[in-house]
Amino acid sequence: MKRIKTDILVLGSGIAGLTFAIKTAKKYPERSILVLTKTTEGESNTRYAQGGVAAVWDPEKDNADKHVADTLDAGAGLCKEDIVRIVVEEGPERVRELIEWGARFDKEKNSNEYDLAREGGHSEHRILHYKDLTGWEMQRTLMEEAAQYPNIQVWEHYFALDLITQHHLGRMVIRVTPNIECYGCYALNKQNSEIDTILSRITVLCTGGAGQVYKSTTNPVIATGDGVAMTYRAKGRVENMEFMQFHPTSLYNPVGENPSFLVSEAVRGFGAILKSAEGEEFMHLYDERLSLAPRDIVARAIDSEMKKRGTECMYLDCRHLEKEAFLAHFPTIYDKCMSLGIDPMQHMIPVVPACHYMCGGILVDDFGRSSIQRLYAAGECSSTGLHGANRLASNSLLEAMVFAHRIYLDIQDKLEHLDYQEDVPDWNAEGTMDPPEMVLITQGMKELKDIMSYYVGIVRSNIRSKRALDRLFLLYEETEDLYKTTKISPQLMELRNLITIAYLIARCAAHRRESRGLHFTTDYPDLLPFVENSVL
Ligand code: FAD
Ligand code: SIN
Repeated sequence: MKRIKTDILVLGSGIAGLTFAIKTAKKYPERSILVLTKTTEGESNTRYAQGGVAAVWDPEKDNADKHVADTLDAGAGLCKEDIVRIVVEEGPERVRELIEWGARFDKEKNSNEYDLAREGGHSEHRILHYKDLTGWEMQRTLMEEAAQYPNIQVWEHYFALDLITQHHLGRMVIRVTPNIECYGCYALNKQNSEIDTILSRITVLCTGGAGQVYKSTTNPVIATGDGVAMTYRAKGRVENMEFMQFHPTSLYNPVGENPSFLVSEAVRGFGAILKSAEGEEFMHLYDERLSLAPRDIVARAIDSEMKKRGTECMYLDCRHLEKEAFLAHFPTIYDKCMSLGIDPMQHMIPVVPACHYMCGGILVDDFGRSSIQRLYAAGECSSTGLHGANRLASNSLLEAMVFAHRIYLDIQDKLEHLDYQEDVPDWNAEGTMDPPEMVLITQGMKELKDIMSYYVGIVRSNIRSKRALDRLFLLYEETEDLYKTTKISPQLMELRNLITIAYLIARCAAHRRESRGLHFTTDYPDLLPFVENSVL
């Protein structure tokens, strides 16, 4: 059990965490920055991003107003327009910085101009990409840049368990307690199973999404909503959790895969068309933008066609596309399909929607400040107001960079005035034993994913939300009993965190008596005239 002090504690080593750490390290070489990451530094949602990063790049064809309008349109009335403008206007500068740090984006053939792609909901070509490996390229760049700064330490296999607040000093903290403060976190060192106390002046949550709450997701196994769950337990504000985005086209694999492999929306932007097994197009029945309509519409259309036809998947037809160009743009997708015996130039690719992105999360303001003092959040774990009820494709990498930068600006005046809280006790593990049977945790996880997939998936209803909440309550009680008596393990903590995430999604879904963006309920199929965020 160690006690560690760091000026700045960053939880997560994806695009949000590393961008913030690099900027801060450069500006304050005398300040210590500790980045904790629960597996390896390179494992994150960031690493798997395919399509790219949206930014207004070609001033002759595109402008900020168009990108703002597309984002607002996708967000179905719940975006905060001032935040959308901030992200769209500051975004290109952040992308330029990343290029200065060494990120490569594809250029047009025989030209120095970037090859800008288009995705669903975008009125222009504005997606910078590196083949279908954009996230990998960004993660690589950030890791190499972060390694240049001696005041950044990245500790791998360190699992943040709980945020430390006045609650740990024996005071009563409830959701309406004013001035809750964060003094750091307790973290499990997975290599020696010890729980360390990490004290910080400022803590920045960059813990990513929670796709693992569903049976089928494009998110890697690390995406278990830990940051949102920790914030909620610490009595911070969380919002809009009903808006879980399902990507329309993950690769259908009959034997099941976790995570599901993504077939990027950029493939549709490149000309691929959604069809049935019989080769019929169907998107004209749902939206005039056809296969390139916003994600919520396409995912619901596929879901509805599958239900009507009683099929396991729908198809993406790429057979009319030019092979050489397809291979140059989508080498990873091509190889993955071929590994399953699907040649995209000869056969249609079977696709199915899968949970992809958490639009809601920790409520933050325009500088990433959460409702808890000394605690910031950026990236997918945060809810800035950019995405509203449905995120526009390729806006999340952009948002993460813009908010990492804004947090870096905001801490400038604060660092000097904040001290460590020395009275924090060490973690108390007295009376806990090894888990009686691991199956209690693994089976709990299966049940949780089933509940969420059957009752709070793409199409919802009152009775389904109620069933989900009833069943989640039982699972919560059983898991809390286990937590109180058993030694902490990452598996137990992830289950606990995902139960909290599931509860937040189901509760927000039950509260929203309308269908808006990603939240569609058969009991209230229409939009309400007034628009509200669901803040918990
Ligand atoms: P992440 O990159 O997920 O990083 C989270 C970090 O937090 C990880 O390092 C993790 O280990 C750490 N962590 C989590 N919990 C703990 C804990 N308890 N203790 C310690 N560390 C912890 N967006 C786009 O804009 N364009 C795209 O083309 C695109 N494609 C995508 C494709 C796929 C397959 C997926 C899954 C997502 C895609 N997205 C895309 C979304 C985008 O990649 C993510 O929203 C974004 O990368 C999130 O970045 P982040 O820094 O917030 O979190
Ligand atoms: C994709 O490549 O389709 C994913 C893009 C995104 O999630 O923004």
